Amino acid sequence: MHHPTPAIASRLPHVGTTIFTVMSALATRTGAVNLGQGFPDFDCDPALPEHVCQAMKEGLNQYPPMAGVPALRQAVAAKISGLYGHEYNADTEITITAGATQAILTAVLCCVHPGDEVIVLEPCYDSYAPNIELAGGRVVRVALQAGTFRPDFDAIAAAIGSKTRALIVNSPHNPTGTVWTRAEMQRLAELLAPTDVLLISDEVYEHMVFDDQPHVSASSIPALAARSFVVSSFGKTFHVTGWKVGTVAAPAALTAEFRKVHQFNVFTVNTPVQHALARYLVDPQPYLGLARFYQAKRGRFRAGLAATRLRLLPCEGTYFQTVDYSAISALAEAAFCEWLTTEIGVAAIPLSAFYADGREQQLARLCFAKKDATLDLALERLARL
Ligand SMILES: Cc1ncc(COP(=O)(O)O)c(C=O)c1O
Repeated sequence: MHHPTPAIASRLPHVGTTIFTVMSALATRTGAVNLGQGFPDFDCDPALPEHVCQAMKEGLNQYPPMAGVPALRQAVAAKISGLYGHEYNADTEITITAGATQAILTAVLCCVHPGDEVIVLEPCYDSYAPNIELAGGRVVRVALQAGTFRPDFDAIAAAIGSKTRALIVNSPHNPTGTVWTRAEMQRLAELLAPTDVLLISDEVYEHMVFDDQPHVSASSIPALAARSFVVSSFGKTFHVTGWKVGTVAAPAALTAEFRKVHQFNVFTVNTPVQHALARYLVDPQPYLGLARFYQAKRGRFRAGLAATRLRLLPCEGTYFQTVDYSAISALAEAAFCEWLTTEIGVAAIPLSAFYADGREQQLARLCFAKKDATLDLALERLARL
């Protein structure tokens, strides 16, 4: 007897296999050095898993409070206060999430109603648009300035209308490595001041800002903090992307709505890992030293790339380096990245993957969160370019 599976209408009809999966599979098949994937190929500080084991052995293995382990929320509030000068109440304004991904989805779901518009600045991280669509919202895409990838405030202002519910910004920026200045964050605050637009500030690379520049968190500007969900991720900061633990800081009224949705999607997050992170955060050096660590990798990588015909775009933060390959090839971005993977042996991600219209700029993103030996091997191969 045939038992047919009922057909369903897709909630996300445009989502298919992403270029990230395609490029990683191609890299594995061809033995290419994978600089496409955005995560480290080295391990975290051994103290971290020791803290996790310790917490497990202490019996910290049952559900924690819905909003997160109090010690971790307090540690996060203290860290934000020390770095950015904003006092969040650990009980009512900090929530621990299953990574930044769940934080952003939850923030969108808690405030976006069908028909509401949410502005994203392209190129942007690939989860934003599907998140907005799942909430029934309409994605309004505004391009960052071509060439520099700095915010285009006139274009943002022009996109804001009566239906605009929220704006998602990301600094330091994946994929371009741009870091918003204080003047730009202040300009954003002025632009939003006369509106009811909420800000979702994706700050997962907050500790990877180079050349002694500051990270200007939305929490550091009172007018923005009052309307923001500030999102971060321990995965990026402590080289544990697979742990999927992030944070959201938001005013109590926003946090209350956030938690209503959080409670009924994940309810709460892995207990021993939260205790481990709370204990590890007692020492600020691991996160304060992160920029220096990645700046050295950036230096090594850029010095090697300078010997090729790839043109380097500025990299002010994150662990991504964007390159312009127009002096080497006339191929479209995806085709160039495939060629680079199969013929040169280094996998990269086309920038077009971060735009809904897949626009072509002859740019590719390379990730330098890799062991020096991995970077050197990639550079040896790229030297042929
Ligand atoms: C800009 C940006 N936001 C969010 C995330 C997701 O972070 P998490 O792994 O904590 O969910 C990433 C991961 O690559 C990212 O690059």
